Amino acid sequence: MYTQALDIPDPQHKPLEVVPAAAGSPAGQLQAHFDARIDADGKIEPRDWMPEAYRRTLLRQISQHAHSEIVGMLPEGNWISRAPSLKRKAILLAKVQDEGGHGLYLYSAAETLGTSRDQMVEALHSGKAKYSSIFNYPTLSWADVGVIGWLVDGAAIMNQVPICRCSYGPYARAMIRICKEESFHQRQGFESLVVQMKGTPAQREMVQDAVNRWWWPVLAMFGPPDADSPNSAQGMRWGIKRISNDNLRQKFVDATVPQARILGVTPPDPALRWNEARGHHDYGAIDWDEFWAVVNGNGPCNKERLATRVKAHNDGQWVRDAALAHAQKNQARQLKEAA
Ligand SMILES: [Fe+2]
Ligand SMILES: [Fe+2]
Repeated sequence: MYTQALDIPDPQHKPLEVVPAAAGSPAGQLQAHFDARIDADGKIEPRDWMPEAYRRTLLRQISQHAHSEIVGMLPEGNWISRAPSLKRKAILLAKVQDEGGHGLYLYSAAETLGTSRDQMVEALHSGKAKYSSIFNYPTLSWADVGVIGWLVDGAAIMNQVPICRCSYGPYARAMIRICKEESFHQRQGFESLVVQMKGTPAQREMVQDAVNRWWWPVLAMFGPPDADSPNSAQGMRWGIKRISNDNLRQKFVDATVPQARILGVTPPDPALRWNEARGHHDYGAIDWDEFWAVVNGNGPCNKERLATRVKAHNDGQWVRDAALAHAQKNQARQLKEAA
């Protein structure tokens, strides 16, 4: 699903250093070939030469993205057994399974950059790797499930559609299918809220309460303001990032305000209003201290999410062992038959 600017800088690491090779040297020729491909809006494929900083940036971004899809299953997974009808349960099951699939495509895309699934999983479980901070907030009511679809998946679509044009082929191709599925996620959430808003006053209040709690964390999903995103310009140069964090956030606010009006809910921002001169909505200040506290492990559910994920992984060890043993047995049988 989800990303927050898709590549959150790690304060413990120095910004990426891009060292240009000397023109005319063999490395310089490779670099020139790479630059020409990027300038022509072509795709870089796994076997192509690429600058080390490009590879590392993508690896970090794609693995953070994969982890976000996988951890993103947890807040809504909490509600599968409590969905109010069979229809809602089937829709929610399908959505949460989609997110698992997104994680798997993205782990595969990241593996083409020279890492292994085990390394990525280990980085997530040890707390070294980041995932989207939005999943460290709790899902307190059934309305939260609808609001996650509408706002969180809605923000994810805004972030992810431009990645379908990313310069790295495997990432761009994975995003095409993912975006189609995200669009179903957003619509199922909105439709569920439309139904709830036609219900009792208590149901309408529950929806408004969920909007109040999710609105600001969702705006923060687009990542720090452009002025505080030192790696953004390089990401743009490489064709990894296409639209800046602030521009994506603005597009999201502009698209979402009319939808809130249709639903009959009010975003919790007194400064939110249409600015005729800019042709966009103005909105209030985001609490970046809260954002960084959550990114750095101190959100309401960080520990619970990670513990649940590690337990699920450990509980599934026997399935991986059995699948490997089965594959080895099959291979041995085939070799025997071929001999
Ligand atoms: Fe999604
Ligand atoms: Fe997803």
